[in-house]
Amino acid sequence: MAIILKSQSERAKIRETGRIIATIFAELRKAVQPGITTAEIDQLTIEALKRYGAKSSSLGYHGYPSSLCTSVNEEVVHGIPGKRMLKEGDIITLDLAASYNGWHADSAITVPVGTVAPAVQRLLQVTEEALYRGIAAARAGKRLNDIGRAVYRHVTAAGFSVVRHYSGHGVGRSMHEDPQVLNYVEPGYPGPRLKSGMVIAIEPMVILGDEETRVLEDGWTVVSADGTYTAHFEHTVAILEGEAEVLTLG
Ligand code: MF3
Ligand code: CO
Repeated sequence: MAIILKSQSERAKIRETGRIIATIFAELRKAVQPGITTAEIDQLTIEALKRYGAKSSSLGYHGYPSSLCTSVNEEVVHGIPGKRMLKEGDIITLDLAASYNGWHADSAITVPVGTVAPAVQRLLQVTEEALYRGIAAARAGKRLNDIGRAVYRHVTAAGFSVVRHYSGHGVGRSMHEDPQVLNYVEPGYPGPRLKSGMVIAIEPMVILGDEETRVLEDGWTVVSADGTYTAHFEHTVAILEGEAEVLTLG
């Protein structure tokens, strides 16, 4: 229940892990082309993690079977890599949590496959902007729910829906720590005051249509109930007195 503060040297370790994730994303971005399967992207991730001496945090987590989450089009989060082949006009979320020297970091990007429809391009842009609105609101002295408010306002002003069922989280020696970082405001729950040294993953998940989601029979893959496209961007950030420091950059 307690939020674990991280010292400057601990934050530097999380940043090292975050840099590995960003570097792997740079490789994966190039691989996202029509004709590649999500299993092949997972394989590239496994090889890259090995090369950097890092470990996937999702592999084996509550039985999750893969090193990477790959969520295509209507898939929101926790898509399992497999035979699905990408085609022009698709979008794919790559969500990678990893650890290096015992410290985790977590990041996600949604990448277009070739050219996508203008509304889908806008969905990607608004979701990434919402992440940065959340990061801008994440400063010592503010409340936790200032983050969710910033994210929610930006997404709904654009006419898209925020997924409520999944949220961000603290990051550290474990992939998931307190607090839960909502992408909306729970009435009557401002949340704790943000303190320098908190490390959290902010991760808006946005649906082009309605906010409802459901889980497929595989027990993992979360999809939009109405089948419309969904996007997800995530960074692990350190709360400081001024602007938060993004720890998952290359
Ligand atoms: N990166 C995901 C997150 O933000 C973790 C998914 S791992 C899974 O929480 F094992 F739960 F799929
Ligand atoms: Co996360």
